[in-house]
Amino acid sequence: MRLKLRMLCYAFIASLCPQFLYAQQIKPKPISKDLFGVFFEDLSYAADGGLYAELIQNRSFEYSPADKKEWNPLSFWEYTKLGHGYGKITVESISPIAPTNPHYVLLDIDYPGTEGVGITNSGFDGITLHARDEYDFSVYIKQIAGEPANIKVELIGKKDVTYGHLSFNVAGNGWKKYTGSIIATANADSAKLSLVSLTKGKIAIDEVSLFPRKTFKGEKNGLRADLAQAIADLKPKFMRFPGGCLVHGDGVDNIYRWKKTIGPVEFREQDRNIWNYHQSFGLGFFEYFRFCEDIGAKPLPVIAAAVSCQNSGTDWGKGQRPVPESEMQSYIQDILDLIEYANGPVTSEYGAKRAAAGHPKPFNLEYIGIGNEDKQTDNFRDRFKEIYEVLRAKHPEITIVGTVGPSPAGEDYELGWKFADKLNIPVVDEHFYEKPEWFLKNNKRYDGYRRPNSKVYIGEYASWGNNLINALSEAAFMTSLERNGDVVKMASYAPLLANVSHISWNPDLIYFNNKTLLKTANYYVQQLFSTNQGDLYIPDVVAFKQEGAATDSTLAASCVKDSHTGDIILKIVNAGSKQATATLNLKGLHIQKGTARVQLLTGLPTDKNSMEEPNTVHVIEKDLPKKLSNFYTAAPYSVSVIRFKAGKL
Ligand code: AHR
Repeated sequence: MRLKLRMLCYAFIASLCPQFLYAQQIKPKPISKDLFGVFFEDLSYAADGGLYAELIQNRSFEYSPADKKEWNPLSFWEYTKLGHGYGKITVESISPIAPTNPHYVLLDIDYPGTEGVGITNSGFDGITLHARDEYDFSVYIKQIAGEPANIKVELIGKKDVTYGHLSFNVAGNGWKKYTGSIIATANADSAKLSLVSLTKGKIAIDEVSLFPRKTFKGEKNGLRADLAQAIADLKPKFMRFPGGCLVHGDGVDNIYRWKKTIGPVEFREQDRNIWNYHQSFGLGFFEYFRFCEDIGAKPLPVIAAAVSCQNSGTDWGKGQRPVPESEMQSYIQDILDLIEYANGPVTSEYGAKRAAAGHPKPFNLEYIGIGNEDKQTDNFRDRFKEIYEVLRAKHPEITIVGTVGPSPAGEDYELGWKFADKLNIPVVDEHFYEKPEWFLKNNKRYDGYRRPNSKVYIGEYASWGNNLINALSEAAFMTSLERNGDVVKMASYAPLLANVSHISWNPDLIYFNNKTLLKTANYYVQQLFSTNQGDLYIPDVVAFKQEGAATDSTLAASCVKDSHTGDIILKIVNAGSKQATATLNLKGLHIQKGTARVQLLTGLPTDKNSMEEPNTVHVIEKDLPKKLSNFYTAAPYSVSVIRFKAGKL
């Protein structure tokens, strides 16, 4: 009865003032504040030879045939004896810097000749130098016999062109770190670093390092500035690391163990990479956390669910192996220690390690992923449950992200969801690599999701390609993630980075070589969405005039409000070949006239950026006409992001 009366009053007031009626109809829905982020995996040389700015490859002589069958501790090094010097080079492992870094080079020099005897590193496909930039060098050396060695370090090019050098004398008998810097005299793209001793005698050499001084934010042991900046420019709300398959590894022994990746780099125990190369772990969990902090992204570390990848070894699909039950307690303790490392007080064991690395303040870890698209087996379920129950009991403040297989449907997906429902896992990680048509057709995928169940993290998704049409299909799909931002908590395109000379997986978001990087059309779509996120979804603002235009088509749109700035943001995607007209119902949104800016990405469906033509697809920005219109014309093959200044709803 009371409700009826209220409705009558509304109808009466609305007949006098239509604005009021409209205001009653706007139903903003709170959506995830962490919707769009990034997925970082060390594949395609994304870490060593990529984001990690170290220029020396195999700096600690730990490469081995386990990484790649043709590799050994001297890979990417040459024995250097110009000037008629002679002696012997061997790789030794008695009394190394640390048992976790067992191999080093021993030079036994009989005669140093006029140019010295030593070793030369060719970097990751050559060392790129920028004229007048400074490079920080360091090395560990132990004098074993003979007079204190006089060492010369030089950056050299073809025909022995030199780009700068430094010298020092070895002092004392134990392992000692020597440091210095070199200013490059010219640009170079295939320089090498040579280290020679000009003294007869025996020396041991390890951990040879060269970093550009200009790393991202000038950090020591830092990140390549241009790549890190390109990621920062996405303004991701979170960053998942250190991967995908890399996390659960090729067999139990290869499961990523975060503890190996912290502390002084020369003590970190290295491992092979499931993608057939090597992990120096110079970019380890401390550096990941620091990077997240630098770019304002919440850290989302993913830890294996104590089972290896189902594709381990040659047993494709059947290679999943469990951590033995007897080791589970210590496995789970490692995860608890990770939470302590991130959030614990400096007085705790692992909080103290974080402080010792130079970061007494906590990293404010909120999320932790357990498992990566694992095959749903009893082994997986038992181990996941064991981990999950301990974490829930000891750290109810941490949101656990589970996993439901590698595909958007199928056995692991179904079983994974059943399991998630049973355990009431807060968030589960779905993955999909599909054709563009799939993304267009699946725009309603989350509209009917059971809302009380686990939330979704779309941890890996990409349409198969870097053409504009691929990016547009992703954009259309992303409007549905905003519309369903109460169910979909997070989403990250995958993979993020690929070195063009070492691609393990295509497509990727950003490609790079030693000198430059390439932002794909997909990158620009991610950037348009992630830099224009909102926390409220407003339905029914954009409608398409086209006959039959539904959300499951080439036309898609969304409207969000960013409560922080007050802005109203529309995203309008036309992945079809015909111009489309969208009707904008802006009434009641308190749009301030003359404030609309549009960012537009458009072109031919086959347009694609390349190293040669990196700007074929790019975003243009312009003001919309001052007079507010109720229509927007979406060009064929386009995504438009329209941002209005607006008052309170
Ligand atoms: O993103 C590349 C790979 O795809 C990931 O490592 C894995 O999780 C997925 O299969």
